[in-house]
Amino acid sequence: MKLLFVGDVVGSPGRRVLGDVLPGLRERHAPDWIVVNGENSAGGLGITAKTARSLFEMGADAITLGNHAYRHREAYGYLDDEPRIVRPGNYVKGNPGRGHTVVEKDGARLGVVNLSGSVFMKAARSPFTEADAILGELDGKADHVLVDFHAEATSEKVAMGWHVDGRVTACVGTHTHVPTADARVLPGGTAYISDVGMTGARDSVIGVRREQALEAFRTQMPVRFETADESPWVNAVLIEAGPNGLASSIEQLLVTP
Ligand SMILES: [Fe+2]
Ligand SMILES: [Fe+2]
Repeated sequence: MKLLFVGDVVGSPGRRVLGDVLPGLRERHAPDWIVVNGENSAGGLGITAKTARSLFEMGADAITLGNHAYRHREAYGYLDDEPRIVRPGNYVKGNPGRGHTVVEKDGARLGVVNLSGSVFMKAARSPFTEADAILGELDGKADHVLVDFHAEATSEKVAMGWHVDGRVTACVGTHTHVPTADARVLPGGTAYISDVGMTGARDSVIGVRREQALEAFRTQMPVRFETADESPWVNAVLIEAGPNGLASSIEQLLVTP
Protein backbone atom coordinates (compact mmCIF):
# COMPACT_ATOMS: atom_id res chain seq x y z
CA MET A 1 0.00 0.00 0.00
CA LYS A 2 1.28 3.44 -0.93
CA LEU A 3 -0.08 6.59 0.67
CA LEU A 4 0.72 10.14 -0.40
CA PHE A 5 0.11 12.77 2.26
CA VAL A 6 0.24 16.44 1.27
CA GLY A 7 1.05 19.15 3.84
CA ASP A 8 -1.18 22.21 4.43
CA VAL A 9 -2.36 23.55 1.08
CA VAL A 10 -2.26 27.35 1.38
CA GLY A 11 -4.72 29.36 -0.70
CA SER A 12 -5.14 29.36 -4.46
CA PRO A 13 -1.34 29.30 -5.06
CA GLY A 14 -1.23 26.07 -3.03
CA ARG A 15 -4.17 24.54 -4.87
CA ARG A 16 -2.65 25.56 -8.21
CA VAL A 17 0.80 24.09 -7.54
CA LEU A 18 -0.75 20.88 -6.21
CA GLY A 19 -2.83 20.62 -9.39
CA ASP A 20 0.34 21.14 -11.46
CA VAL A 21 2.50 18.62 -9.58
CA LEU A 22 0.05 15.89 -8.60
CA PRO A 23 -0.33 14.20 -12.03
CA GLY A 24 3.46 13.66 -12.18
CA LEU A 25 3.57 12.35 -8.59
CA ARG A 26 0.71 9.96 -9.30
CA GLU A 27 2.47 8.69 -12.42
CA ARG A 28 5.83 8.21 -10.68
CA HIS A 29 4.64 6.76 -7.35
CA ALA A 30 1.19 5.33 -8.13
CA PRO A 31 -0.21 5.98 -4.63
CA ASP A 32 -3.24 3.94 -3.59
CA TRP A 33 -4.37 6.77 -1.33
CA ILE A 34 -3.96 10.53 -1.37
CA VAL A 35 -4.72 12.52 1.79
CA VAL A 36 -4.40 16.31 1.83
CA ASN A 37 -4.36 18.76 4.72
CA GLY A 38 -6.75 21.49 3.57
CA GLU A 39 -6.97 23.74 6.64
CA ASN A 40 -5.52 26.71 4.72
CA SER A 41 -6.99 25.94 1.31
CA ALA A 42 -9.53 28.80 1.25
CA GLY A 43 -7.81 32.17 0.93
CA GLY A 44 -4.97 30.98 3.18
CA LEU A 45 -7.21 30.31 6.19
CA GLY A 46 -9.85 27.61 6.57
CA ILE A 47 -11.72 25.53 4.05
CA THR A 48 -14.94 25.92 2.07
CA ALA A 49 -17.04 23.40 0.15
CA LYS A 50 -15.58 24.87 -3.05
CA THR A 51 -11.93 24.43 -2.09
CA ALA A 52 -12.61 20.98 -0.61
CA ARG A 53 -14.27 19.89 -3.85
CA SER A 54 -11.29 21.14 -5.85
CA LEU A 55 -8.97 18.98 -3.70
CA PHE A 56 -11.24 15.94 -4.17
CA GLU A 57 -11.32 16.60 -7.93
CA MET A 58 -7.50 16.55 -7.98
CA GLY A 59 -7.62 13.06 -6.50
CA ALA A 60 -7.70 13.45 -2.72
CA ASP A 61 -9.38 10.50 -1.01
CA ALA A 62 -9.65 12.36 2.28
CA ILE A 63 -8.97 15.84 3.67
CA THR A 64 -7.63 16.66 7.12
CA LEU A 65 -7.91 20.01 8.87
CA GLY A 66 -6.57 21.81 11.94
CA ASN A 67 -6.97 24.99 13.97
CA HIS A 68 -8.51 26.88 11.01
CA ALA A 69 -11.26 24.26 10.50
CA TYR A 70 -14.05 26.61 11.56
CA ARG A 71 -12.86 29.81 9.87
CA HIS A 72 -15.68 29.76 7.28
CA ARG A 73 -19.11 29.45 8.84
CA GLU A 74 -20.71 28.47 5.52
CA ALA A 75 -18.64 25.26 5.54
CA TYR A 76 -20.08 23.91 8.83
CA GLY A 77 -22.93 22.02 7.14
CA TYR A 78 -20.50 20.62 4.59
CA LEU A 79 -18.18 19.39 7.37
CA ASP A 80 -21.17 17.55 8.87
CA ASP A 81 -22.29 16.06 5.55
CA GLU A 82 -18.98 15.15 3.86
CA PRO A 83 -17.62 11.95 5.45
CA ARG A 84 -14.21 12.27 3.73
CA ILE A 85 -13.20 15.37 5.73
CA VAL A 86 -11.93 15.26 9.30
CA ARG A 87 -11.26 18.06 11.78
CA PRO A 88 -9.37 17.57 15.08
CA GLY A 89 -11.07 14.76 17.01
CA ASN A 90 -10.22 16.29 20.37
CA TYR A 91 -12.28 19.44 19.77
CA VAL A 92 -15.48 20.04 21.72
CA LYS A 93 -17.94 17.19 21.18
CA GLY A 94 -20.91 18.29 19.09
CA ASN A 95 -18.92 20.86 17.08
CA PRO A 96 -19.38 20.58 13.30
CA GLY A 97 -17.72 17.69 11.49
CA ARG A 98 -16.00 14.51 12.69
CA GLY A 99 -12.54 13.68 14.03
CA HIS A 100 -11.98 10.39 12.25
CA THR A 101 -13.33 8.54 9.25
CA VAL A 102 -12.82 5.43 7.16
CA VAL A 103 -12.58 5.80 3.38
CA GLU A 104 -12.96 2.72 1.20
CA LYS A 105 -11.66 1.94 -2.28
CA ASP A 106 -11.30 -1.34 -4.18
CA GLY A 107 -12.07 -3.29 -1.02
CA ALA A 108 -9.36 -1.50 1.02
CA ARG A 109 -10.15 0.63 4.05
CA LEU A 110 -8.10 3.61 5.23
CA GLY A 111 -8.77 5.12 8.62
CA VAL A 112 -7.99 8.84 8.77
CA VAL A 113 -7.61 10.59 12.12
CA ASN A 114 -7.08 14.29 12.83
CA LEU A 115 -5.89 15.48 16.24
CA SER A 116 -4.89 18.89 17.58
CA GLY A 117 -1.91 19.47 19.81
CA SER A 118 -2.61 20.89 23.27
CA VAL A 119 0.62 22.89 23.64
CA PHE A 120 0.02 26.47 22.38
CA MET A 121 -3.14 25.14 20.65
CA LYS A 122 -6.85 24.89 21.38
CA ALA A 123 -7.98 21.40 22.38
CA ALA A 124 -10.92 20.26 24.50
CA ARG A 125 -9.30 16.94 25.44
CA SER A 126 -5.80 15.49 25.53
CA PRO A 127 -4.74 14.34 22.06
CA PHE A 128 -3.13 11.28 23.69
CA THR A 129 -6.25 9.93 25.40
CA GLU A 130 -8.31 10.94 22.35
CA ALA A 131 -5.94 8.94 20.12
CA ASP A 132 -6.52 5.90 22.34
CA ALA A 133 -10.29 6.34 22.19
CA ILE A 134 -10.37 6.80 18.39
CA LEU A 135 -8.02 3.86 17.75
CA GLY A 136 -10.34 1.76 19.91
CA GLU A 137 -13.28 2.81 17.74
CA LEU A 138 -11.35 2.06 14.52
CA ASP A 139 -10.28 -1.39 15.73
CA GLY A 140 -11.22 -3.92 13.04
CA LYS A 141 -12.73 -1.23 10.81
CA ALA A 142 -9.63 -0.16 8.83
CA ASP A 143 -6.71 -1.95 7.15
CA HIS A 144 -4.40 1.05 7.48
CA VAL A 145 -4.63 4.12 9.70
CA LEU A 146 -3.20 7.60 9.14
CA VAL A 147 -2.99 10.15 11.96
CA ASP A 148 -2.51 13.82 11.05
CA PHE A 149 -1.31 15.43 14.29
CA HIS A 150 -1.85 19.15 13.81
CA ALA A 151 0.39 20.63 16.45
CA GLU A 152 2.84 23.44 17.20
CA ALA A 153 5.38 21.93 19.61
CA THR A 154 7.86 19.41 18.19
CA SER A 155 8.09 17.79 21.64
CA GLU A 156 4.37 17.00 21.66
CA LYS A 157 4.57 15.68 18.09
CA VAL A 158 7.55 13.42 18.82
CA ALA A 159 5.72 12.15 21.92
CA MET A 160 2.62 11.37 19.83
CA GLY A 161 4.76 9.38 17.41
CA TRP A 162 5.92 7.15 20.27
CA HIS A 163 2.39 7.00 21.70
CA VAL A 164 0.90 5.49 18.54
CA ASP A 165 3.98 3.58 17.31
CA GLY A 166 2.97 0.08 16.27
CA ARG A 167 -0.75 0.97 16.40
CA VAL A 168 -1.10 3.05 13.22
CA THR A 169 0.45 3.02 9.75
CA ALA A 170 1.59 6.63 9.89
CA CYS A 171 1.63 9.61 12.23
CA VAL A 172 2.44 12.80 10.34
CA GLY A 173 2.71 16.29 11.79
CA THR A 174 1.21 19.40 10.22
CA HIS A 175 0.57 23.07 11.17
CA THR A 176 4.05 24.68 11.34
CA HIS A 177 4.26 24.83 7.51
CA VAL A 178 8.00 24.04 7.78
CA PRO A 179 9.13 20.52 6.81
CA THR A 180 11.31 18.72 9.32
CA ALA A 181 14.23 16.37 8.55
CA ASP A 182 13.21 13.52 10.85
CA ALA A 183 11.07 11.27 8.63
CA ARG A 184 11.56 7.62 9.60
CA VAL A 185 9.76 4.43 10.42
CA LEU A 186 9.68 4.05 14.20
CA PRO A 187 10.69 0.68 15.72
CA GLY A 188 7.08 -0.46 16.08
CA GLY A 189 6.35 0.12 12.39
CA THR A 190 4.71 3.56 12.33
CA ALA A 191 5.93 6.01 9.70
CA TYR A 192 6.60 9.33 11.40
CA ILE A 193 7.56 12.93 10.60
CA SER A 194 7.26 15.92 12.92
CA ASP A 195 6.04 18.20 10.15
CA VAL A 196 5.31 17.56 6.50
CA GLY A 197 5.46 21.29 5.69
CA MET A 198 3.14 23.31 3.45
CA THR A 199 2.04 23.39 -0.16
CA GLY A 200 2.14 26.93 -1.47
CA ALA A 201 4.52 29.85 -1.82
CA ARG A 202 8.03 29.00 -0.68
CA ASP A 203 9.11 32.66 -0.92
CA SER A 204 6.81 33.68 1.92
CA VAL A 205 6.58 33.57 5.70
CA ILE A 206 4.72 30.27 6.13
CA GLY A 207 2.36 31.25 3.31
CA VAL A 208 1.97 34.98 4.05
CA ARG A 209 3.50 37.69 1.83
CA ARG A 210 7.04 38.33 3.10
CA GLU A 211 6.83 42.13 3.35
CA GLN A 212 3.56 41.97 5.35
CA ALA A 213 4.86 39.40 7.82
CA LEU A 214 8.09 41.35 8.20
CA GLU A 215 6.19 44.58 8.81
CA ALA A 216 4.16 42.89 11.54
CA PHE A 217 7.32 41.63 13.24
CA ARG A 218 9.18 44.94 12.83
CA THR A 219 6.41 47.30 13.92
CA GLN A 220 4.37 45.02 16.22
CA MET A 221 1.33 46.69 14.71
CA PRO A 222 -1.68 45.00 13.06
CA VAL A 223 -1.00 44.24 9.40
CA ARG A 224 -3.37 42.84 6.79
CA PHE A 225 -2.02 39.47 5.66
CA GLU A 226 -2.39 38.20 2.12
CA THR A 227 -1.49 34.81 0.72
CA ALA A 228 1.85 34.79 -1.06
CA ASP A 229 2.27 33.24 -4.49
CA GLU A 230 6.02 33.35 -5.18
CA SER A 231 7.98 30.14 -5.90
CA PRO A 232 5.24 27.66 -5.01
CA TRP A 233 6.15 24.08 -4.10
CA VAL A 234 4.53 20.94 -2.78
CA ASN A 235 5.59 19.44 0.57
CA ALA A 236 4.47 15.84 0.97
CA VAL A 237 5.48 12.40 2.20
CA LEU A 238 5.11 9.04 0.52
CA ILE A 239 4.50 6.12 2.85
CA GLU A 240 4.69 2.45 1.92
CA ALA A 241 3.06 -0.15 4.11
CA GLY A 242 2.37 -3.87 4.13
CA PRO A 243 -0.86 -5.83 4.59
CA ASN A 244 -0.18 -5.94 8.35
CA GLY A 245 -1.01 -2.22 8.49
CA LEU A 246 2.53 -1.16 9.38
CA ALA A 247 4.92 0.99 7.34
CA SER A 248 8.09 -0.12 5.59
CA SER A 249 9.24 3.32 4.42
CA ILE A 250 8.54 7.03 4.46
CA GLU A 251 10.03 9.38 1.88
CA GLN A 252 9.92 13.16 2.03
CA LEU A 253 8.85 14.82 -1.23
CA LEU A 254 9.65 18.54 -1.68
CA VAL A 255 8.59 19.20 -5.24
CA THR A 256 8.78 22.35 -7.34
CA PRO A 257 6.82 22.33 -10.63
FE1 LIG B 1 -1.73 25.29 8.30
FE1 LIG C 1 -2.70 25.08 11.57
